[in-house]
Amino acid sequence: MLESRPETKLLDLEPATQTFHDDVIAGLGGAPKTLPCKYFYDQRGSRLFDQICQLDEYYLTRTELEIMRTYAAEMCAGIGSGVMLVEYGSGSSTKTRLILDHLEAPAAYVPVDISRSHLHRSADALSRLYPDVEVLPVCADFTTPFHLPQPRIRPTHHAVYFPGSTIGNFQPEAARRILANIATLCGRGGGLLVGIDLQKDHRTLEAAYNDAAGVTAAFNLNLLERIKLELQGDVDIEQFSHRAVYDAERGRVEISVVSQCEQVMTVGDRSFKLESGEAIRTEFSHKYTIDGFAEMASGVGLTLRRHWTDTAGMFAVLHLVIVD
Ligand code: TRP
Repeated sequence: MLESRPETKLLDLEPATQTFHDDVIAGLGGAPKTLPCKYFYDQRGSRLFDQICQLDEYYLTRTELEIMRTYAAEMCAGIGSGVMLVEYGSGSSTKTRLILDHLEAPAAYVPVDISRSHLHRSADALSRLYPDVEVLPVCADFTTPFHLPQPRIRPTHHAVYFPGSTIGNFQPEAARRILANIATLCGRGGGLLVGIDLQKDHRTLEAAYNDAAGVTAAFNLNLLERIKLELQGDVDIEQFSHRAVYDAERGRVEISVVSQCEQVMTVGDRSFKLESGEAIRTEFSHKYTIDGFAEMASGVGLTLRRHWTDTAGMFAVLHLVIVD
């Protein structure tokens, strides 16, 4: 069978494209088939995601922003002065500005992002907006440990800001590992300000990932477009549809592209057979309760100190601290 051949390399692929190729082959070779969600965000994908954030059904972005607008001052008072603030994600957003507007004498602001271009663009913009704050961008993958830069001013403590419910896109085991790395990075006296999406009725959740205008479908199927364009894959995108279903027991929305017929998809010299109705999972989006998240975090030494929610209780921002 083609699928069981040893590692093959396509000729003349850029290193990043080779990695994309290898990840796609590995994911499609699994049972069930998966595709890694980190490849959603090419230029088109990022544009589509920006559109998702504006959708009526996608309450997450606007709700988190409402919480930040209302409580940023309280959050920053809780974090305290002289902090080195490390943001997971590149932070060009209104949320970052709300934090930086309210923090007292931060020692430095460190955005961490895997995309170099994204990172430098937003770091430049923030340096201009906050000339008194030293901005030290770090190009790294926050799912594995990385080193913090040395700021000019010695920080009194460290805090991580992790907005957007991005932690929810990791499975519990990986999420716990990220939280453990955050605890190590911050050390005693440090803390974490994290945005999480809360468990709620499945209709609201499924609508958020199945918008009427089909933007989310286009975003999800864009992963197949990338395989077709960048890896010269033979994929009949018309024969796939978008699916997002909430599994209340596991507290997660499961997002996939579903084959509409029995078909074969080819990437490089590998072919993958799909049954009619077979799903390729592209992402999980975990939904938490405040207690559930606090319990997971307490396992790695992060203690819930305060939390803030919107009036409808859809989304929450938690401040966790390291006390030992
Ligand atoms: N982090 C976002 C979330 O979990 C990503 C997202 C929104 C997403 N809509 C999507 C990912 C649709 C895949 C498909 O809410």
